[in-house]
Amino acid sequence: MIGRDLLGIEDLDRADIERILETAERMQEIGEREVKKVPTLRGRTIVNLFFEPSTRTKASFEIAGKRLSADVVNFTASSSSLSKHESILDTAKTLDAMDPDAVIVRHRVAGVPKRIADVLEAPVINAGDGAHEHPTQALLDMLTVYQEKGRIDGLTVAIIGDIAHSRVARSNVYGFSKLGAEVRVAGPPPMIPRDVATLGVKSYHSLREALDGADVVMALRIQLERSTGAHFPSVREYSSTFGLDRSKLRYAKDDAIVMHPGPVNRGVELSPELADRRPSVILDQVRNGVALRMAVLYLISGRPGPTAKEDA
Ligand code: CP
Repeated sequence: MIGRDLLGIEDLDRADIERILETAERMQEIGEREVKKVPTLRGRTIVNLFFEPSTRTKASFEIAGKRLSADVVNFTASSSSLSKHESILDTAKTLDAMDPDAVIVRHRVAGVPKRIADVLEAPVINAGDGAHEHPTQALLDMLTVYQEKGRIDGLTVAIIGDIAHSRVARSNVYGFSKLGAEVRVAGPPPMIPRDVATLGVKSYHSLREALDGADVVMALRIQLERSTGAHFPSVREYSSTFGLDRSKLRYAKDDAIVMHPGPVNRGVELSPELADRRPSVILDQVRNGVALRMAVLYLISGRPGPTAKEDA
């Protein structure tokens, strides 16, 4: 994967995903040491280019880079020359001229990381673009499920919420399907894409049916800033129909785990009590995000020599 862009799970095959997860498992040991730092990426430079807010993804890429001894540069859109009307592509090309070894891009518009990747020498890692993909989130979710269940092949994964507008859902549908899980999606009709069957998943408008026999229940954040009444009548109605609590979780398998990419709207997608305790693994997902992003940085920018882009 040296020098390759990571724009989406759709572009990866099963062997790629398994290599990333195996590498992440090895990286976890570094996070358990007293001194959580190795020289693997010493002399490498990683640029965090976030045009949209983030807590987990941005911080964990920064921590991941620093644990591998890379120099990490955090670009802040509000204090950059974007405020002087410099374009996004010119901004990216300017940073690329400083020879970074990887550029991590988040943008609210689908396709922006790909547009940037097309003009940059450095490999680009998509940290979430619109409703398109969020590949490292899906990879850390797969790592978490693998470590909880010991396998992914043959599991049933139910994803609940605004599937149509979720980059996390899309990346997880691709990822879990490629690793052999049965993926189901559920939510109010306007939140389920019409063409969802073409992705090879079953869709439900009944939470009870979607959860029946599920090993993994993944609640998605309702994007209150984007879904103003257009996709469901009220937050209260969404919560009573699709919000998870211990009582509704009984529809799933007894040992089902509960996941959420964060940030959680407490009392909307998950009851606060369920969000904070097992079988919720939300903070394990966050913890695994650091090791997973260490693996991605190592695999993409870890060796000297020309990048795949330069070879091309
Ligand atoms: N899951 C996720 O992408 O969270 P952030 O927006 O905080 O990065």
